[in-house]
Amino acid sequence: MARREAARLLRRLGPLAVESPTRGMPHCQHESANRIVNSCRRFHWIPSLQRPLCGPTTSGGIYEGQSSAKKACEVQKRTFGSAATHIQRNPAYSELNSDDVSYFKSILCENGVVQDEDRVAVANVDWMGKYSGASQLLLLPKNTTEVSKILSYCNTRRLAVVPQGGNTGLVGGSVPVYDEVIVGLSGMDKIISFDNVNGILTCEAGCVLENLSNFVENEGFIMPLDLGAKGSCHIGGNVSTNAGGLRFIRYGSLHGSVLGLEVVLADGTILDMLTTLRKDNTGYDLKHLFIGSEGSLGVVTKISVLTPAKLPSTNVAFLSCNDYKSCQKLLLAARRSLGEILSAFEFMDHHCIDLAVRHLEGVHNPLPASPYKFYVLIEITGSDESYDKTKLEAFLLRSMEDGLVADGVIAQDISQASNFWRIREGISEASVKVGAVYKYDLSIPVEKLYDIVEEMRCRLGDSAEVLGYGHLGDGNLHLNIVSSKYDDNTLERIEPFVYEWTSAQRGSISAEHGLGLMKAEKIHYSKSPEAVQLMASIKKLLDPNSILNPYKVLPQSVL
Ligand code: FAD
Ligand code: MLT
Ligand code: ZN
Repeated sequence: MARREAARLLRRLGPLAVESPTRGMPHCQHESANRIVNSCRRFHWIPSLQRPLCGPTTSGGIYEGQSSAKKACEVQKRTFGSAATHIQRNPAYSELNSDDVSYFKSILCENGVVQDEDRVAVANVDWMGKYSGASQLLLLPKNTTEVSKILSYCNTRRLAVVPQGGNTGLVGGSVPVYDEVIVGLSGMDKIISFDNVNGILTCEAGCVLENLSNFVENEGFIMPLDLGAKGSCHIGGNVSTNAGGLRFIRYGSLHGSVLGLEVVLADGTILDMLTTLRKDNTGYDLKHLFIGSEGSLGVVTKISVLTPAKLPSTNVAFLSCNDYKSCQKLLLAARRSLGEILSAFEFMDHHCIDLAVRHLEGVHNPLPASPYKFYVLIEITGSDESYDKTKLEAFLLRSMEDGLVADGVIAQDISQASNFWRIREGISEASVKVGAVYKYDLSIPVEKLYDIVEEMRCRLGDSAEVLGYGHLGDGNLHLNIVSSKYDDNTLERIEPFVYEWTSAQRGSISAEHGLGLMKAEKIHYSKSPEAVQLMASIKKLLDPNSILNPYKVLPQSVL
């Protein structure tokens, strides 16, 4: 594109040529405008999409373990993607009885033992309303000692347990499969300390991510991770799933940011690894076993995490590209030109935008007259507002000249920035609203990443809508296939094809969401038999009675 044409296009869109509302303001106002952008750019709660239980409820009498297990079997027979794999309840587990409940009442305060049907029912169903169990008991410990007593007892009694954080997981890991006791961490939500010289936060596992974000922002720092579920998910859940999210491109994995953990093992042993040291090479770094273990090796109770400094300037651009190749080239160009200030590079196809606009209230496409196929959201965060902006503008101008960007807009105020982010972050919510969502979370080399979306469209024709979006900067595709209801035919056309295809690219069938129940039996698509065997040995060593989050993460055959 000729330079003049590119400049004209940018002017037409306004933002690059229009004075920023923060420009010309006194320094402190300037900073405060940016701060507001920082704290308002994402929606602050995730609406509950939980519907009434469509399977049987747990009203059949509290101590009817047998009948509750049977009911759960019925629930599992429903077809909802990979979870339809027929898993039998492990008969080695005991069924809950009145003595168990009395014991839990004796060690927890009254509010810590929840039998109320409605509250237990909510904890039995995941955020998507897709996976549900039939637990009759929700325990809410207040401290590590209580968690330890619960697990020690459950281990001796062989009662199966599901650790639950904010219950925003997307692979069926956070809810029971049958009648497992749910151990919710929401009562453990204290911030223990903040080292404001080194930016090290130490807190309990049940702290909601957004609350931690707000806390550290007041101290001049930010959390190293951010995700659309931040208003509900817990830091303990984030650590246990090794959540990736929207800042991964800049701050990397929790394996890098988490400095220490306190974990309660299946037999109640409290494992204190709660260091705040940056460097510590004394023996095996055991905390890494628990980061991403999805509640299958221990219950995370405390965390220390390194928080990066909060920078004063944030800018968000929403761009369209004519083809996927341009998105790819744009990513490389952004890495080269924006390097140290690039803080997000998110991508979505036009099906995602259409869906978000259709299903989410108040959301509109900032580029309405541009029927492009692909969209990219770029965020930059830096320490010098005018330098950063100039850099971004020059980058966009060049990208337009080079034909990588077809159209684009830079947010001029909080509400524009929020709208951009709302579109991207709202795709999961909009997908669930359609009715049924077959959800895949793949790591694939960037050059190949969109091929699977196109192949899937060919395979499914009109029977379902196929959406491709994700964290392009991290090589992470989210492939959502949405239709009005779940059905076996659609599933058979998706799986195992999607896993085989990913495996053939040496990709991962779980980039960031974990395996949970959905993909426990599929791990071999991404891990060798030897690696899976070693994982099973670790599981058996740490949890010999297999009470922690059964049926999840690893195939039943290796346990
Ligand atoms: P839960 O859902 O309660 O549990 C998840 C798993 O961790 C379960 O296996 C559970 O048993 C285990 N667990 C929870 N707490 C503990 C604990 N204290 N100790 C041991 N095990 C525990 N994920 C991403 O990676 N990136 C994203 O960008 C992202 N965006 C999302 C956006 C939306 C709208 C939604 C609904 C989800 C998103 N997720 C994302 C998935 C989910 O939010 C993350 O996996 C999150 O880390 C889960 O945290 P949670 O507290 O809700 O955990
Ligand atoms: C996202 O990036 O939006 C999340 O991982 C959630 C999802 O894919 O649904
Ligand atoms: Zn994601």
